[in-house]
Amino acid sequence: MSRPIEGPEAGGGARRQLKIAVDGPASSGKGTVARLVARQLDYLWIDTGALYRAVALTARRRGVAWSSSEEVASLAEGLRVEWVRERGEEPKLLVNGEDLSLAVRAEEIGAGASIVAAIPRVRSALLGVQRHLAARGGVVMDGRDIGTVVLPDAELKVYLDASLDERARRRWLQFPSRNYDAVRLDIAERDDRDRTRVVAPLCAAADALRLDTTDLPIEEAVTIIVGWARERGSGSVGTSGEG
Ligand code: DC
Repeated sequence: MSRPIEGPEAGGGARRQLKIAVDGPASSGKGTVARLVARQLDYLWIDTGALYRAVALTARRRGVAWSSSEEVASLAEGLRVEWVRERGEEPKLLVNGEDLSLAVRAEEIGAGASIVAAIPRVRSALLGVQRHLAARGGVVMDGRDIGTVVLPDAELKVYLDASLDERARRRWLQFPSRNYDAVRLDIAERDDRDRTRVVAPLCAAADALRLDTTDLPIEEAVTIIVGWARERGSGSVGTSGEG
């Protein structure tokens, strides 16, 4: 998998360009929180789940079963993935030049992503891409194994969690035509797959700061994490930004 991916365009100045890892289970709020933290710090937000989703979507389009490890792995190794941000816009996921940012959000593609993510060769194909993206710092990267495997040297690691009921409720609000119990079961199955796989399972890094978002509004979670980032020397737009 090659990746001429856009690096962070955020202004450097004197401020420190941290690597911030945000991990957690499905619908723990990590995507929204990571995006907003990145916006406040003028960092690049990288949604690594979208990369696994891109592999699942491409397999589906090519008629390759998600369980066909060898075929899915070869397909993943051949994809050209780019994470592009133009000033003032949300980052876009380009796969072989096609913008898949919206298509990968489909509910069944999330389930497929969790299946292909358990294939070790898929994970190694995506590992280099993720590290390349984060190499210059100034990134907030969210996923399942960012603090433990992808960026073990991240200056700030956050592990977000929320109760299964609350996460199911959030997911159901996104897909209200679905049955709540079915949504809850899907999330529980996904958690189980993500936590028990052999390679890079979902877990908090030993040095991660934990935040439970069950009763915590998103804006408060963002404020807390931005505070942690500033304690570690990251400046913010509009401040003097000690480096
Ligand atoms: O965050 P998400 O729901 O978009 O992720 C979809 C799936 O991708 C998730 O169930 C597990 C996998 N994934 C992973 O294994 N490692 C990551 N760093 C990110 C996602």
